[in-house]
Amino acid sequence: MSTTTDPKVQFQINHRAVQASADDSDMRLVDFLHERLNLTGTKLCCGIGICRACTVAVQGKPGTPLEKMQACLTPIAALQDMHVFTVEGLGSEQALAPLQQAFLENFAFQCGYCAPGFLMGATVLIDRLKATPTSSAELDGLMDSLLGDNLCRCTGYVRYKEAIRKVALTYTKPA
Ligand code: FES
Ligand code: FES
Repeated sequence: MSTTTDPKVQFQINHRAVQASADDSDMRLVDFLHERLNLTGTKLCCGIGICRACTVAVQGKPGTPLEKMQACLTPIAALQDMHVFTVEGLGSEQALAPLQQAFLENFAFQCGYCAPGFLMGATVLIDRLKATPTSSAELDGLMDSLLGDNLCRCTGYVRYKEAIRKVALTYTKPA
């Protein structure tokens, strides 16, 4: 997936190698995803780092923990050698990822604009739980720390939280 014959920044998106030109190094990740790769699942809303609709997950090196990143604030130049995961990388054509399935089963969506941000924040949550077993009693605090800043203009917080909690509980240890 090369975007130019003059690669400057090299990184990966959903396990695929990406090369961005020097001209694109100042471009916001969210714009690069939309305009260069036609990956429009990552949403742009406030554009100033508040709403978290644009959240993606990133990994610095293989084996290191996933971290949340706001694609509206991140220039392409900051992504050299990083691995970016977007909502398009969840699940497959054959099956939804457990978090996506839980969103459907809990009727979490209303307009759905904020959903990719919640999904990617929850992906980081599940990664943390896999790496560091946490008790179910501590789960709500961890959810608040990783997802408490995600805004939903349709105010669907309860159903999102229920769906994420349902999946996350399978990765917790007994209290
Ligand atoms: S679009 Fe609102 S935080 Fe990025
Ligand atoms: S479902 Fe509409 S903004 Fe969250």
